[in-house]
Amino acid sequence: MRIAISTGGGDAPGLNAVIRAATLSAIGRGWTVLGIKRGYFGLLGEDEVIPLTTETVRGIGHLGGTILRTTNRGNPFAFPVQSADGTWTEIDRSDELIENARNLGIQAIISIGGDGSLAIAQKLVDKGMRIVGVPKTIDNDVSGTVSTFGFDTAVQTAIEAIDKLHTTAESHDRVMVLEVMGRDAGFIALHSGVSGSADVILIPEIKWKLEHICEAVMERDRTGRKFAIIVVAEGATDEDGSVSLLGESLPGQDRRVGGIAQRLAKAIQDRTRKECRSMVLGHLQRGGMPTGYDRLLSTRFGGAAAQAVADGKWGHMVALQTPHIVTVPIIEVLKAPKRVDPTHDVVQTARRMGISFGDR
Ligand code: F6P
Repeated sequence: MRIAISTGGGDAPGLNAVIRAATLSAIGRGWTVLGIKRGYFGLLGEDEVIPLTTETVRGIGHLGGTILRTTNRGNPFAFPVQSADGTWTEIDRSDELIENARNLGIQAIISIGGDGSLAIAQKLVDKGMRIVGVPKTIDNDVSGTVSTFGFDTAVQTAIEAIDKLHTTAESHDRVMVLEVMGRDAGFIALHSGVSGSADVILIPEIKWKLEHICEAVMERDRTGRKFAIIVVAEGATDEDGSVSLLGESLPGQDRRVGGIAQRLAKAIQDRTRKECRSMVLGHLQRGGMPTGYDRLLSTRFGGAAAQAVADGKWGHMVALQTPHIVTVPIIEVLKAPKRVDPTHDVVQTARRMGISFGDR
């Protein structure tokens, strides 16, 4: 058996642990393993395809990033190309990719990625490719799995930031607004906000009103707590608002979400007259070493992906359905993205503890 591994979309801590576990599990079965560099670029002549051996994956399990590199601009079905006049168009290069994979003798691919990569995997499966998916994203927004790897590390990073903001906020009687990632899902904000004892948590799944946020801040003020910590997910909006975007994306790239914290801090300061500061945690959430939880989950996913290849589970994704790792059809996973359930016990517990979600 000759298999290949690819990592696509934004990086997430734990990618290398998946690569390592999948590679070693495959080699243990006597298979040959290749690594496709930068998403599918390596199969499109835009980058290389390298051998993955016991030596190549040695000592990488604890490292952030991906030794295979990645891209969020490499959808083979809508590949961005620049014309001589400088304009960009998108072309379908999937047949070329399939042909190149065949020429390299690749019999199956383990595709490690988020919703975008899984959608590409499904389209390639529909064209006859033999692909198994591994769910990766710090946003935790992939259905069918209790969690994606990278999420726990991102939450840990956000908690450390909240802890540090607490001491400076209290010293200055300030309101600190921390923006965390997550795109259209509020998991990072919710989990870090609750664990870090935030006072207000704003997520895309619960629409807020400025007056309720300000009331929560002033209520604290009246009871002698002169500072407040607000954690806002980058995709959170008020009842009338649209998601805050960061200018133009590069060709082939998804929209770039962000900027809500700065706007919110100004609006809260204008309304409450309390001094507000904002901070965007940004890509720190994607960097660094994976936590123990993410390392173990990644390792289990990598081993399960090799098993799924052995079982011929094409078009399936490995998933955590506690306490087991299972496989689920990617087509089912793609039906609806995972979002925070506002009735979930984490939200309910937070509300009962006095944390505001800005909606009442
Ligand atoms: O999907 C992961 C993620 O980190 C989102 O939380 C964030 O909006 C986005 O990727 C940022 O991507 P980029 O690498 O384009 O800045």
